[in-house]
Amino acid sequence: MSRGIGVFDSGVGGLSFLRALRAEMPHEHFIYVADSGHAPYGERSQAAVLGRSRAIVRHLADQHVKALVIACNTATAASIHLLRGEHPALALIGVEPGLKPAASLSQTGRVGVMATRGTLDSARFAALLAAQDEKTRFILQPCDGLADAIEHSAASGDESKTIALCAYYVSAMGTFGKKPGQIDTLVLGCTHYPFASPHLRALLGPQVQLVDNGEAVARQTRRRLLQEGAGAPGLAQSTEAGCIGKADEAGAGQVSLFTTGQPQALQAAAQRWLNLPASVIQLSF
Ligand code: DGL
Repeated sequence: MSRGIGVFDSGVGGLSFLRALRAEMPHEHFIYVADSGHAPYGERSQAAVLGRSRAIVRHLADQHVKALVIACNTATAASIHLLRGEHPALALIGVEPGLKPAASLSQTGRVGVMATRGTLDSARFAALLAAQDEKTRFILQPCDGLADAIEHSAASGDESKTIALCAYYVSAMGTFGKKPGQIDTLVLGCTHYPFASPHLRALLGPQVQLVDNGEAVARQTRRRLLQEGAGAPGLAQSTEAGCIGKADEAGAGQVSLFTTGQPQALQAAAQRWLNLPASVIQLSF
């Protein structure tokens, strides 16, 4: 088996990006680490999130991954600038809320941004916001408890808390719709939130556009592997030739799942959201 691509998140949320990564690069081997034993990150200090990110990146670097996707907006904001300095030879790819694509999709010039408090309070997010065109107004909504509710719904199947929090935060942002002054585009600035999309969609109706960066990050990761000549056999042909899903021709990629929390929770989430019947190994650090 060729060297893997590491992917990590505070918990099960990064599976939404793993789904996009697998669709983009079906021949690659992915090693996913959920830090569910220490989730959620969003309401923890930047120093605590940096400490956990450092430990997980070191663990994955020791597995000789050929690239590492920090599939967590909160961890990216708290750590990527330092981790890049600490691992100069590692291709580290971070994620951030999709403000720019949302601004270009919006017709009303009003964009809602749902993210964790840690992401929205970070210097990295402040810089991202400052770099946007002034004609778009961003309505920022810290969503305390939402990632945690999604995290727990994976194993229990009970989404009542997720639904209640989505309703609460959507109404806190203002009025959604296509009319002047209304919010017509909503950024899902936490990798857990795509798993709440059906509930958000039900609350917002079909006109409001939901934006997450999963596919863009998957394309960026693929480009990076190609640049470095580190792709698995078949990478160069896979999606550009329109062969998504035909992994068998060059050998289907494997997925290895690890968690610092309860293996059943990650296993249930992978089965439920990715239709992935993989077993999960528990890590204790
Ligand atoms: N999924 C993470 C993100 O993208 C964080 C969720 C959390 O642990 O609070 O920000």
